[in-house]
Amino acid sequence: MNLNPVVRVRVPATSANLGPGFDAFGLALSLYDELTVTPGGSGVTVEVVGSGAGEVALDESHLVVRAIRAGLESLGAVVPGFRLRCENRIPHGRGLGSSSAAIVGGIAAAYGLTGTPLDRDRVVELANEIEGHPDNVAAAALGGFTIAWTDGETGRAIRLEPEAGLAAIAYVPGTRVLTREARGLLPAAVPHGDAAANAGRAALLVAALTSRPELLMTATEDRLHQAYREPAMPESLALVHKLRGSGLPAVVSGAGPTVLVLTVASEEVRVLPLGSSDVSGGLAAAPDGWERYELGIEPLGVQVWSGSQPVERE
Ligand SMILES: Nc1ncnc2c1ncn2[C@@H]1O[C@H](COP(=O)(O)OP(=O)(O)O)[C@@H](O)[C@H]1O
Ligand SMILES: [Mg+2]
Repeated sequence: MNLNPVVRVRVPATSANLGPGFDAFGLALSLYDELTVTPGGSGVTVEVVGSGAGEVALDESHLVVRAIRAGLESLGAVVPGFRLRCENRIPHGRGLGSSSAAIVGGIAAAYGLTGTPLDRDRVVELANEIEGHPDNVAAAALGGFTIAWTDGETGRAIRLEPEAGLAAIAYVPGTRVLTREARGLLPAAVPHGDAAANAGRAALLVAALTSRPELLMTATEDRLHQAYREPAMPESLALVHKLRGSGLPAVVSGAGPTVLVLTVASEEVRVLPLGSSDVSGGLAAAPDGWERYELGIEPLGVQVWSGSQPVERE
């Protein structure tokens, strides 16, 4: 098999749940990890700069390496060795989809190495098998606003076009919460009234994110997961309450502890104008020790280049 001599991948951060859309909704954000993969030799050499440097394993157990291997296997390709360089900007263990970015990026790199046009639905399927839930991988693979589900064991997703001007502010604390730890706090059953309220809010959030942003505040109300996770991230829940109390649609990003505020910079709706004094100071300032990112929505999802050529033209 002829392999491309070098492949570059850019894969976005993602926020899942968005309040009521537990395990289903995802949003791709303009914060990226970049991978460079060069085939050759018989083993793997991994170099990491940025997030995770000095922390993640640099061998076959590295998440991107595992995803590249899984992608190659699904494409029926044999590539004994390669060099992987990761330039990571997505913080780890904060609820911004670093594990999904690693997995989707690795699988996309396998497509690039073999020169196979990217099959994004297949990437979602395969990435879900590794990640165990499809919400973040869907947004990383498809871009925009995604709704994911599982058909039996199979991860599936659709992409919807977000309202023009939709953006997000991520408040990222210095401490991390592992996804499996946050999942462990959820009860086995919830009151019927809470389930019903969430179903209605989730449906409303689809409308709010795609065409009715003035409804974002109501549409981001959640009763299924955020409050249960408060013991693992009390400061995050306190920030959500404070921001919501001042009229900003704030949610816990994924399994936390990052807090995400959805914003729309448009003429008609000023949910929260980016760059205004309200944002950088005052009510919406980041707490001490937290980082604050102003992010756009990534429209395309993961991108792959071999040499200087995009593997897939949109
Ligand atoms: N780019 C990456 N390269 C290697 N491993 C990664 C990468 N991103 C995430 N991981 C692994 O996933 C863990 C974080 O996953 P998770 O708890 O799901 O948090 P997140 O919300 O950031 O996805 C990291 O501690 C690391 O083991
Ligand atoms: Mg994760």
